[in-house]
Amino acid sequence: MSPCSHIRKIGILTGGGDCPGLNAVLRAVAKTAYLQHGIEICGIEDGFQGLIENRVRPLSMKDVSGILTRGGTILGSNNRCNPTKYAISRNPDGSPVFANVVDRCLQTIERNKMDALVVIGGDGTMACAAPFAAAGVNVIGIPKTIDNDLVGTEITFGFLTAVDTATEALDRLHSTADSHHRVMVCEVMGRNAGWIALTAGVASGSDVILIPELPFDIRRIADDIDRRMRSGPGFAIVVVAEGARPRTGQQIVARVDPTSPDPIRLGGIGNHVAQEIEDLCNVETRTTVLGHTQRGGSPSPADRILATNFGFHAAAALAAGRRNRMIVRVNNIYSDVDLFTAVGKQRLIPIEHPLIAAARALGTSFGDGTAYSAPTAMAAASM
Ligand code: F6P
Repeated sequence: MSPCSHIRKIGILTGGGDCPGLNAVLRAVAKTAYLQHGIEICGIEDGFQGLIENRVRPLSMKDVSGILTRGGTILGSNNRCNPTKYAISRNPDGSPVFANVVDRCLQTIERNKMDALVVIGGDGTMACAAPFAAAGVNVIGIPKTIDNDLVGTEITFGFLTAVDTATEALDRLHSTADSHHRVMVCEVMGRNAGWIALTAGVASGSDVILIPELPFDIRRIADDIDRRMRSGPGFAIVVVAEGARPRTGQQIVARVDPTSPDPIRLGGIGNHVAQEIEDLCNVETRTTVLGHTQRGGSPSPADRILATNFGFHAAAALAAGRRNRMIVRVNNIYSDVDLFTAVGKQRLIPIEHPLIAAARALGTSFGDGTAYSAPTAMAAASM
């Protein structure tokens, strides 16, 4: 063990929407910190909410043993809590009254003698960490989200398991679509990025893939489906990212949560596309919305490995005296970048991505009427 003189104790939290692999990261950070650097860990419950309310508990080796394969997070998470804009009460009309409660969080950090904070989350969580870094707390971020949309890293843990879940669902939809000669539309998550739709769509051999990066023309989709119904196998599978939108229209917003660092919740495009296909093609069409099934369950082996590497590198970065960094993987190599690299940005799919070119070459429709063209030399990233 190499004792780490400057850091004796760290606080760790899981923020934002949960995803498979959070427990694997907690285990990796804690075990590396204890076994290699003699650093103690305390777990903060329910993301920044626990920091505001001083809900902190020690995390022993026993606490983090046996959790590698477990979905969710043993600490709890929260995607509706921003300490700089925290809903402390409600106005008579039901709207939230906000206050800045960063000082309360700083008291919790001091009271529990945390020498550093590890935050596991997406861009919202990294943004929430800003006032702590500004106040002199050393914050190390670990990128998490099924959406795979964080700038600075080629992959986030949770994504590959979500792709497995979506692919399995699309495989199942294939057989029932075939039996009933139907069109099956499957809406997947991803916020403004189409990574889950593209990857699961290609992995399942879906016929139409709709992603936010390529706004679609419903008439093109109808033409492609018509062709497949008449002279193809007589059924079709459409995977649509929740953020996809028609060329002439807007994304569909399911709800707005003003208390969340990312208030917009997308959803509903699957039903919309299905209705249009049914009307235009006169073919029975059904919709499946995968929703939070993509966030639940045990992480895949690939995500367990990714999470273990992210956690190990976070603990090692702290022990090496790194300050205010986010752990990333680029070209399969782990390193760290400025903590705020991902804040306020989104890593969308480049429209020249080789997986889009490959799908087009196989006849997959993106509903945009664009024909296949040979890919550029861009490396097939992230998978
Ligand atoms: O960012 C992860 C994610 O699952 C998105 O794909 C989705 O848009 C959003 O979170 C759903 O959030 P909530 O859990 O608040 O419904």
